[in-house]
Amino acid sequence: MKKHIVLLPGDGIGPEVTKAAKRVLEAVAERYQHTFTFESQDIGGAAIDQQGSPLPENTVEACKKADAVFLGAVGGPKWDQLPGHMRPEKGLLGIRKQLGLFANLRPVKAYQQLLHASPLKPEVVAGSDLLIVRELTGGLYFGEPSERRKNGKEVVDTLAYQKEEIERIVEKGFESARLRRKHLTSVDKANVLESSRMWREVVEEKKKDYPDVTVEHMLVDAAAMKLVTNPSAFDVIVTENMFGDILSDEASVLTGSLGMLPSASVRSDGVGLYEPVHGSAPDIAGENKANPLAAILSTAMMLKHSFQMEEEAEEIEKAVADVLQARYHTADLQITNGVQVSGSELANKVIEQLSTSDAAE
Ligand code: NAD
Ligand code: IPM
Ligand code: MN
Repeated sequence: MKKHIVLLPGDGIGPEVTKAAKRVLEAVAERYQHTFTFESQDIGGAAIDQQGSPLPENTVEACKKADAVFLGAVGGPKWDQLPGHMRPEKGLLGIRKQLGLFANLRPVKAYQQLLHASPLKPEVVAGSDLLIVRELTGGLYFGEPSERRKNGKEVVDTLAYQKEEIERIVEKGFESARLRRKHLTSVDKANVLESSRMWREVVEEKKKDYPDVTVEHMLVDAAAMKLVTNPSAFDVIVTENMFGDILSDEASVLTGSLGMLPSASVRSDGVGLYEPVHGSAPDIAGENKANPLAAILSTAMMLKHSFQMEEEAEEIEKAVADVLQARYHTADLQITNGVQVSGSELANKVIEQLSTSDAAE
């Protein structure tokens, strides 16, 4: 199969993890006789430096024409003083919005090999396997007015949703639950927010169409607590943009590191954007310390969701599990009797594992 992939390396550790992702995709292409072509485009701080905008028009055009897009990370202290509309993060928000990627799928799995890498008790973490379905193009991130600061004395961030925006993400939550253990937790703040009360109504309406899925509503503060006290009680969590952002970094603690969480930003049709959950990690950028597994697992999500390459995707996931089983890890993970390696070495291990596996033969 021929596929064209746009890479958006971005800033900080973004280019490092993008390189790892690309190498894994090349290894898969070789093994399965696919042709993957790659094109890099600017986004975020790198785009500001090169082209004067966090999301140049040519980047958007290239992404629209691609079969799939991979993003490393954006942002960093260099650009933190710029006005809101010129920040690197605006590039990421812009590409999600322009591609209509309203659903962000963030799977969180506690690997047996990493149970002790979490600061939580192993018996709490064991068996955790959940999916956060985060609304990605609405809510506080996009509320009008876009000019949010007035006369130096007033600020405004608006949490607005159209009912259809809630309906489509709630449907995605139900559909995702149907493909898993059929339990959906809708997370909101319905005791305070009107948007959450509409969210709850939509979930109640939609659940009639999914009688095979059990549904519960949970307030976001309680959900934050339960994620670290009884995480294995969750299957699929569906929630609005900001809650999903916060809960997913919290959930990464189950895996031992933020550097483990992949994600897919998708819509019902059209191009998908695959992006690790972590940011540009300025504290370790350029040191070859970044854990590439979130990025590598995001390529598996690309193969599955955009290219219907189930077998190839599973092979990547298995290679990652095997490398962890062999106790290789980057500095962000603490593994007893582990072998600490650099980011690029860890990517090498995954690629070696792919080439020794006999799945494609
Ligand atoms: P961050 O995710 O960049 O880093 C948080 C902590 O996790 C840091 O200690 C970092 O070293 C560590 N970490 C993150 N990814 C890692 C990896 N792959 N391997 C090892 N350690 C890793 O969050 P932050 O420090 O709050 O934000 C830094 C910048 O990144 C900000 O400009 C922020 O806006 C941006 N950001 C971008 C994205 C994105 O592009 N998707 C996501 C989150 C934050
Ligand atoms: C993420 C990031 C982004 C978000 C930022 C960088 C805009 O934190 O992808 O989780 O909040 O969506
Ligand atoms: Mn985030």
